[in-house]
Amino acid sequence: MLKVINVVGARPNFMKVAPIMEAMERRKREFAPLVVHTGQHYDSMMSDTFFSDLEIPQPSIHLKVGSASHAVQTAAVMERFEPVVLEKKPDWVLVVGDVNSTLACALVCAKLGVKVGHVEAGLRSRDRTMPEEINRLLTDQIAQLLFTPSEDAGENLRAEGVGDERIRFVGNVMIDSLFKHLARAKESEVRRNLGVSDQEYAVLTLHRPSNVDDAETLGRIVDALEEISDRLPIVFPVHPRTRKTISEFGFGDRIKKAKGLRLVEPLGYLDFLGLFSQSRLVLTDSGGLQEETTVLGIPCLTLRENTERPITVEQGTNTIVGTNPEKITNAAFAALNGSLTTSRQVPALWDGHTADRILDALLEN
Ligand code: UD1
Repeated sequence: MLKVINVVGARPNFMKVAPIMEAMERRKREFAPLVVHTGQHYDSMMSDTFFSDLEIPQPSIHLKVGSASHAVQTAAVMERFEPVVLEKKPDWVLVVGDVNSTLACALVCAKLGVKVGHVEAGLRSRDRTMPEEINRLLTDQIAQLLFTPSEDAGENLRAEGVGDERIRFVGNVMIDSLFKHLARAKESEVRRNLGVSDQEYAVLTLHRPSNVDDAETLGRIVDALEEISDRLPIVFPVHPRTRKTISEFGFGDRIKKAKGLRLVEPLGYLDFLGLFSQSRLVLTDSGGLQEETTVLGIPCLTLRENTERPITVEQGTNTIVGTNPEKITNAAFAALNGSLTTSRQVPALWDGHTADRILDALLEN
């Protein structure tokens, strides 16, 4: 029986840990899992709602670190996670994704000699100004087992000198959650409540510091949104970081005047999946959404200069448009009139069975 601590910290972690926990509970004879929540995200719409939507058991341990600078937040997770590992003595600790909690917990384990598995390993944007890129590079250096979502991730690791014995190509675990919950999500009332009709709206998310913490960049994105929302309503669930800077930079009035642009509070997993899965177009700077739209065949415009998920461009529906307003609007209008060409393949092993492959690999090591 393997004792495994599954770490969650921030919103994009929950949909990755949910299928792993579900598989571990189903395979009770082989696994004794625990969930540790670092508390990096703490608002009910950024955290609690995902536990109920995704049916994740309540965390056994909550470290309640909250928001702070990178150094303070990372240090707080480390300080509070170390005694948990010492007390629980897990065989494995699983960390997912690329948030500060991912790196902090991996580092604690590396120093204690406890084995770490990194789920979603090997992704690289090659942009070291992104905090997540630093978290990815360092976590992959110190984890024993690297679970990759795509072949290119394995190639990145090999190019950095990682041996094949540490790499397991398992597919995309977040897509396990998508397949499990899609039918239920489509039943959500969210579209009716917002008064939007299927295929007749776009969905926008924005939260990258490079986009929302810089007034000039955010201003350029708002320029594009004003124009696009004249032709197609845009629903924009606003991340707390972004809500703050919209108001600080004084963009509130412009956004209010753009009648087609509809700001709403962050949505839970089911409501958000119910919303974007029926949309005509997605505009985003999120990583996960580039993957989810690829699986669902929805055109996605990524408002960044790069992506750590190039497979969504090569095989999926993703187009990297950056933050130039003309480029964004041209691509959006091309998507609307059907002249934006993208592939429509679903990448290998994005099939809803990734969690079981991760569990099998843990048993073999
Ligand atoms: C974090 C992750 C990012 C991920 C994103 C998803 C890092 C370095 N970044 O960024 O990779 O894509 O989560 O959301 O780990 N806040 C709240 N309520 C909350 C959480 C945050 O109001 O529950 C506000 C706080 O003002 C905080 C700010 O949002 O200062 C940013 O939160 P933080 O966790 O530092 O980074 P995110 O931008 O959410």
